[in-house]
Amino acid sequence: MKSNDYLELYKGKTFESMNLYFRSREIFPGGINHNIRYYKPYPFFTQKSKGKYLYDVDGNKYLDFWNGHWALILGHSPRKIVKKMTKQLKKGTLYGTANKLSLKLGEEINKAIPKAENIRFCSTGSEATMYAIRLARSATGKRVIAKIEGGWHGFNTNLLQSVNYPYEADEGLGLIEDEGHFVESLQFNDLERSLKVLDSIKDDLAAIIVEPILGGAGCIVPKEGYLEGLQEFAQKNDSLLILDEIVTGFRFSYGGAMDRYKLDPDLFTLGKIIGGGMPIGAVCGRKDIMKLADSTVDGNKTTYCSIGGGTFSANPMTMNAGYNTLKKLKKNPSVYTKINELGKITRNELTKVFEECNIQAEVTGMGSLFMVHFLNDKVQSINSALDVSLSDKEQLFAYNFALMSKYEIFFLPGKMGAYSNANDTDDPKKLIEATRNVFEKIPRS
Ligand SMILES: Cc1ncc(COP(=O)(O)O)c(C=O)c1O
Repeated sequence: MKSNDYLELYKGKTFESMNLYFRSREIFPGGINHNIRYYKPYPFFTQKSKGKYLYDVDGNKYLDFWNGHWALILGHSPRKIVKKMTKQLKKGTLYGTANKLSLKLGEEINKAIPKAENIRFCSTGSEATMYAIRLARSATGKRVIAKIEGGWHGFNTNLLQSVNYPYEADEGLGLIEDEGHFVESLQFNDLERSLKVLDSIKDDLAAIIVEPILGGAGCIVPKEGYLEGLQEFAQKNDSLLILDEIVTGFRFSYGGAMDRYKLDPDLFTLGKIIGGGMPIGAVCGRKDIMKLADSTVDGNKTTYCSIGGGTFSANPMTMNAGYNTLKKLKKNPSVYTKINELGKITRNELTKVFEECNIQAEVTGMGSLFMVHFLNDKVQSINSALDVSLSDKEQLFAYNFALMSKYEIFFLPGKMGAYSNANDTDDPKKLIEATRNVFEKIPRS
């Protein structure tokens, strides 16, 4: 099929979504409430979700590989979690006071990841990374934060630098130039270059913030020694290492990716999975640093770092959903065995399909996360956000759109896919078969 055919097919089956989208444009800038949720010609509107499926207002049912921004490791509305949440709903949704559920979730995280010596809950990952930066500056008395080119840490102003290609350009209006002077960017997986940049800012370097696997930038795994090299520099320089585990925390095993890479971050952030499908963020780490946020100690503004929480922080619905999700994951390590295996099968089989179809592509990822990149003259392998930016994004969007419109397989166009416990071995088969059909076998020359 030609791309125009897919477009017509989609339009033909999403008429109600189109109407809702045009109404939404009158109310919301761009018609959406998260920048990445728009794709051409308009997004379908979801009516409900269950297990591995999204159902739109037009009656279409999609096999969902987006899984709520990769947060839903147990799939949509898992029965047991919903049951527990329904009970909690009757006991209150927002206390605005200290509560035992938050302690239970906090203690569980601390047991799973002992480096979470202290934890502060908030309601989004963006808040968590903002607090981590503020704590790092408080603890070190230094100002500059080094982040990865293309690294995504949410919409907090401090880190809204070098996120999208071209990385040198401002991310948009409303960002004050002076703030940009306190953020430097490093190229993922190029340790030599990164260390040079770090050396040039070492006197004022408060922290390096890095995702163990670049998620939003394109599902890129670190080369052996890269993360360790950044950590070594931070330690020698009395700067902090902040690991942003908002995607990776509890994704590959019951704990953080820091175990897999043998990292010892001073601070780290969690989100997504630990909220069990409800809004959450958490900044965690060394007690001596986190205690700077202890507002109960008599002191004054010169000795204390105000990192807050917020109206909805540690609300009982999120705490309940998060705690019960972690409990389920802890009790059933087979969840990880299964979803990691599904990811591996998918990466291997998709790679074979592209080879058979004579399509130059690389399938990146680890465990239950994966993403297809189409290569070209500019990029022959994917190691950094820049490589992803220079790869054939048009072909990727066309592929994702074809899967959605004809095969009812949903990836947020241009973003990586994730498996959840709701998936089974039929799902990679379905994806692989659909991919083969999209690219129709072209015999190898
Ligand atoms: C690595 C990482 N950090 C931070 C965030 C921001 O989290 P939130 O969208 O909950 O603000 C995200 C969101 O996708 C993320 O992927």
